[in-house]
Amino acid sequence: MESTSVPHGYSSPEIVARYRAFFQAHGHTELVGSPLAVPGNSTSFVIAGMQPLLPYLRGQQLPPSTRLLSLQRCLRSDDADAVGSNGRKNTFFFMLGNWSIGDYNKGDAIEMALSLLLEDFALHQSTLWVTVFAGDSELGIPLDETAVEHWLRLGIPYERIVPLGAEDNLWTMGGPGPCGPCSEIYVDRGLAFGCGLPTCRPGCACDRFLEVWNLVFMEYERFTDGSLAPLPQRNIDTGMGLERIASVLQGVESAFSIDLYQPALSRLNEQLSEGNRQRPDLSMPVLPVTPEVRARRVIVDHVRAALFAGLAGVLPGRDGCASVVRRLIRRAARQGHLLGLQQPFLNELVVPLAQAHDAFLRVEERAQVSTLARMIADEERRFTYVLARGLQYLAHLEPDQQGHIPGERLFVLHAEKGFPPDLAAEVLAERGLSVDWSSYEPALAEHRRISRLSAARHFGL
Ligand code: SER
Repeated sequence: MESTSVPHGYSSPEIVARYRAFFQAHGHTELVGSPLAVPGNSTSFVIAGMQPLLPYLRGQQLPPSTRLLSLQRCLRSDDADAVGSNGRKNTFFFMLGNWSIGDYNKGDAIEMALSLLLEDFALHQSTLWVTVFAGDSELGIPLDETAVEHWLRLGIPYERIVPLGAEDNLWTMGGPGPCGPCSEIYVDRGLAFGCGLPTCRPGCACDRFLEVWNLVFMEYERFTDGSLAPLPQRNIDTGMGLERIASVLQGVESAFSIDLYQPALSRLNEQLSEGNRQRPDLSMPVLPVTPEVRARRVIVDHVRAALFAGLAGVLPGRDGCASVVRRLIRRAARQGHLLGLQQPFLNELVVPLAQAHDAFLRVEERAQVSTLARMIADEERRFTYVLARGLQYLAHLEPDQQGHIPGERLFVLHAEKGFPPDLAAEVLAERGLSVDWSSYEPALAEHRRISRLSAARHFGL
C-alpha cells in the first residue's frame, strides 16, 4: 500500500479551509451545505453542489449575495457499477463550489480557478490541461472562443486546450434544468497512470488526465424536449470534487487512497489478515485494476455513502433513496464475499470512516455513528444468506445459444431467493455474460397473474 502521510497543508480539511479562505477573500458568502437527501423528496439525493441553489440560478429568488461558495455532500449512484474500476469515481463525495449569480464573468471564473490551483495549491502549470465546449450546430451554440482566449491569456498553451462536444462539455442536470457550456480543468497525473495510447488526452477513460474542476457557464434553461432558453442572468457554477483534488495534492494513487479513507482501508486490511477470511474468489476477468483493488475501493466507497445517507436520515429500504442505500450495502457485501471475508464486516469500517471525517461532522451526527454501524451490520447480516445462495445459482447458469442469460432466470432468482437482479447482472457481466432482459418482464407479469389467481381462489372469489 502507498504512503498514508499527508503533505503539510493538504489534509482534506485543510484543502477545504484554503478553498474557503480564497473565495471569501474574493467576496464570496458561504452557504451552509444542504442535507444530502433533498427534504420532501425521497427519490433523489443531491447530485451536485448547484442543486440547492436552483432558485437563485433561475432568478426565482434573491441570493444572500451574488457571490456564493459551499461545501456540499453529494451522492451519485446511477453509475455505481463503475466504482473501483478507475481511481476517480466515488458515489458519495464532497463538492466544493463557487458561484456567480449574474455577477462575475467567464474570464473572472477562469482566472480565480487558475490562481487557486497554482498559488494556493502550488500545482505546476505544466501539469494542467483544460477542455472547452466545441460548439453544437443543432443547438446553435458555437465553439467557446472566449474561454479559449482566457486560457491562452493566462498561459495555458493551445495544445493543452481541448475542445469537446455537447456530451462532455455542455453540463446539464441529466434532464431539464439550468445548464451551460463548461470548461473543465484536468491534472496530468503522468504516464504511469495512463493507458499509453497516442490518443490519450482529457476525456480518455484512463486515469492519466484527472478532471478536478468543472467551470460551468450557466446561461440556459433546458426543457424536457432538449431545447434551450436563456436564463434571466448569466451565472457561473463551479464544482471541484474534494476527493479528486485531495488525491492530487496528497500525491496518492486514487480518490480512494486519500486521508478520508485511510483508517477504513487499514481496518479492512486488518480484517483481511485476521483469519476472518476464507479462500478468496477473485476469478473475475482482468480489469484495468486488479479485482482485489476494485473490491477494496467499492467496499470503502459504498460504506461511506451508506454512512452519510444514514446521517441524512436515509436507511436501507425498498424504495427511492432507501433502495439506493440497500443496493450499495449489498454491492459492498458482495465484494467482501469475493475477498473471502466472513460477514458481517462492513459495520467495522463505519467508525474509522466517521473518525476520518470528524472535521466534517456535526456534533449530533457524531452521536449517531454507532447506531448506523449496527444498522449496516443488520442489513448485511440479512443479505448474507441470500448472497451465498444467489451466487451459487448464478455460478451454474449457462448462456443460451446467443451467449445471453435469459432475463427470466434472474427473475426466478429474485422471486425465489430474493437476489437483486441488477446485482445478478453485474456478477454475470464479470464473467463476460450479458442478460437478455426481454424475458424478464413477461416472467414478472406471469408471476403476478398466478399470484392474483391463487389469491382469488384462497379468498373464494
Ligand atoms: N454543476 C457542475 C457539476 O456538478 C459544476 O458545479 O459538475
